[in-house]
Amino acid sequence: MIHHRTPAFDALLKKVLTALPYLFQTKQQVFMHTSTGSGAMESALVNILSPGDRVLAVVSGKFGERWADMAEVFGARVERLTVPWGEAVEPQKIKAALEAHPETRAVLCQACETSTATAHDIRSIGEIVAASEALLVVDGITAVGAYPLAMDDFKIDVLIAGSQKAVMLPTGLSLISLSEKAWKVAEKATCPRFYFDLRREKKANAKGETLFSSPVSLIKALDYVLGRIQEAGLDRHFQQLRRRAEFTRTLLTEMQLEIYSQSPANSVTAIKIPAGIDGIKLRTHLEEKYQLTVMGGQEQLKGKILRYGHMGYISDDNLIESMTRLAQALNDFGAKYDITQIRQKAESWLKAHSL
Ligand SMILES: Cc1ncc(COP(=O)(O)O)c(C=O)c1O
Repeated sequence: MIHHRTPAFDALLKKVLTALPYLFQTKQQVFMHTSTGSGAMESALVNILSPGDRVLAVVSGKFGERWADMAEVFGARVERLTVPWGEAVEPQKIKAALEAHPETRAVLCQACETSTATAHDIRSIGEIVAASEALLVVDGITAVGAYPLAMDDFKIDVLIAGSQKAVMLPTGLSLISLSEKAWKVAEKATCPRFYFDLRREKKANAKGETLFSSPVSLIKALDYVLGRIQEAGLDRHFQQLRRRAEFTRTLLTEMQLEIYSQSPANSVTAIKIPAGIDGIKLRTHLEEKYQLTVMGGQEQLKGKILRYGHMGYISDDNLIESMTRLAQALNDFGAKYDITQIRQKAESWLKAHSL
């Protein structure tokens, strides 16, 4: 470990801060907070909001709910645009809401609502919000680094990411960037902010420091990840993730399993648990007998879906093995899959779609 007030760390920080805009596909600076993703959600709000501001929050699952609740805590007047779980928001509904309330200061939306594994059409929403006074604030925690979410092209004003998802690191680092339009608001916003004050973080970065003690190990690891992504190139990196998502969706469909989301994301897939199977027991069984960790559903989806992540370091062998183990676990619950056939299908799909 190196100390964070040393020339070696200064050089590392400079390198990482220079490389981050590539990941966000922006000309703006990207900042780091020592926090989980929810810290960046809070940072986004406190840096651009003033108490009493009207906010339109897309709520299509757990994380949308969290952001709407958080904005209320900071004194915003929140209008929730509620979308049925598993569906993407219709951009025209955002347009209508902004026309009805032109005083709206911010639109909050997840790029991928992880609780339902659903991708929203951020590009179309960006066009709509850019034509208004409001800022488009996007939670890209399971999107940045997983599939195209070009901050500048998509006209996103505030974009956040978290280390432990598509950025392929352990938990503890979050990332945020503001457009010029958002910076103008941030300079004057009156929400109380201290730890997440991006005006002060910007000044610290200009001096080659982070505002508070730097999480050296995570920043070193981030340097490694950014190097890998730069080496492959974002396009190829995204192709690799799309291939894994397509593999997952194809194999599940062949296994006659239903995909929960109507707008499935390329970072995570939600699988409907077949009728008659207890999803909570299935998940535990997968973990204990097959060493396969997948997430279950939350709240209304508890026991009803499995969330199968395909971000991060995943090899073709992992893909084949996890699909086979899922089939084996389902067989333990009464399904009748031919495991050899599933393994062969998985292998031949990957071979036919090699990159
Ligand atoms: C879309 C989204 N937003 C926010 C969060 C919260 O991040 P954290 O648990 O790192 O605070 C998550 C975590 O899964 C997420 O997927």
